[in-house]
Order: sequence, then structure tokens, then C-alpha cells
Amino acid sequence: MEYRGRTAVVTGAGSGLGRALTLELASRGARVAASDIDGAGLDETVRRCGHGPNQIKAFVLDVSDRQAVLSHAQDVIAAFGGVNIVVNNAGVAVVATVEETSFEDLDWLLGINLMGVINGTKAFLPHLVRSGDGHLVNISSVFGLVAPAYQGAYCTAKFGVRGFTECLRQEMLIQGRPVSVHCVHPGGVRTNIARPAMAATRPVSVRIRPGASTG
Ligand SMILES: NC(=O)c1ccc[n+]([C@@H]2O[C@H](COP(=O)([O-])OP(=O)(O)OC[C@H]3O[C@@H](n4cnc5c(N)ncnc54)[C@H](O)[C@@H]3O)[C@@H](O)[C@H]2O)c1
Repeated sequence: MEYRGRTAVVTGAGSGLGRALTLELASRGARVAASDIDGAGLDETVRRCGHGPNQIKAFVLDVSDRQAVLSHAQDVIAAFGGVNIVVNNAGVAVVATVEETSFEDLDWLLGINLMGVINGTKAFLPHLVRSGDGHLVNISSVFGLVAPAYQGAYCTAKFGVRGFTECLRQEMLIQGRPVSVHCVHPGGVRTNIARPAMAATRPVSVRIRPGASTG
């Protein structure tokens, strides 16, 4: 795929997979709208990217805030004129038994990992269709395929991302829409998701049990 002349949107671009994707897309010549709830992480991504504002623009964004995501889509169109690639990547983790997971933590995680993906998909889909060459990438997890203990909230979101994305993929194919739809199921990647550093977003949300892994 030729990335020069194309515009990509990446959520959760202030760390981990989102940062790596942003840097790779920019290095291949794509314009990137990089967003994250963590402005400092985002700044670091832009710094590492080394390109100017014509190629990368940073947006502080909470993907669980639907109105903000809808406004973000308008801002990206205003900045770059169109969108070809959207990567709904932002995510968080809660590692705890279902019994121990509070409703508050469930709402928080589902709001980001499931509704955040849905918000991003719905907000950008009309623009991807309009581009005539759209590509949607929703990040699920291996825990969107298998459901181990201590991952109830996370698996609920990631299975949901899979179902939502696979339905949309069928619809785009059936209706002949010019949007390829991808659901990605990464295995373990050493990033910040399971670190106490997540306290910057929400102090008690990440509960790591000895021997439990995130995925
Ligand atoms: N690392 C892994 O092993 C792994 C495996 C499978 C799937 N994943 C998925 O990959 C995606 C990226 O995770 P990562 O490993 O790079 O983690 P990470 O913690 O390094 O990066 C996640 C980013 O999302 C941002 N974020 C959190 N809440 C947000 C919100 N409400 N709005 C916008 N941004 C928000 C964080 O600030 C952070 O920059 C997540 O969806 C995660 O579930 C990761």
C-alpha cells in the first residue's frame, strides 16, 4: 500500500502500539492525526516523529467521550481534508475476578475499549466511505478470541470489538462500500498497558494479580 498522500487517524497514540503505528505511518509518508487522553505521551510521540504539523497533528482526546470523538472527526477533516485510515487503538486494562470488578471499573473499561472503538468507527465511517479508499482497523486482542480468568471486563470489551467489527466488515462487502475492515488480535506486547503508570489516567483501575497477564 502507498501511504504518501493518505491520511491516517490513530487513537491511543501516546504510548505503546499506537505510538509505534504513528511513527511507522509517518515514516512511510502518511499524514497522521494522532490522539490520546495523555497529552504528555502524545507530545513525546510527536517529538519522536520529527515531522512538522503538515504531516502529524496531535489531538488530546478521550475516546469514551462520544461528542468529543464526533468533533474530532470534524477537526481532522478540517485539518487534512479527508481520511483514508482509522486505527481505533486506545485501550486500558482491568485484571481482576468478575466478583471483584466494580461496576465503576466495568463502565470505565467498556467505555474506552468497546464504546471508544464504536465511537471512532461511527464518527469516521462516513469519511472513510467518502474517501473511496478507506481502511478501518479496530484493535481487539487475543483476549477477544479466548477468555481466561481475571479478564472478564477486558474480554467482554474485546469480544465485543470483534463482533462489531466483523459485522461491519460483512456489511461493507455486501454493500460494495470502498472500506476494508480489519479486526486485529495482538498477543502479548510489552507496553505500558499493565503498568502502574496507567495511574495517570485512573489510579485504581489496573489490578494485576501475580501470574496474570494482559493481552
Ligand atoms: N500490549 C499488549 O500486550 C496488547 C495485547 C492485545 C491488545 N492490546 C491492545 O492494544 C491497544 C494499545 O495498547 P498498548 O499495549 O499500546 O497500551 P499502552 O498503555 O501502551 O497504550 C494505550 C494508550 O491508550 C491511551 N488511552 C487510555 N485511555 C484513553 C482514552 N479514554 N482515550 C484516549 N486514549 C486513551 C493511553 O493514554 C495510552 O497512551 C489497546 O487497545 C490494548 O487493549 C495490547
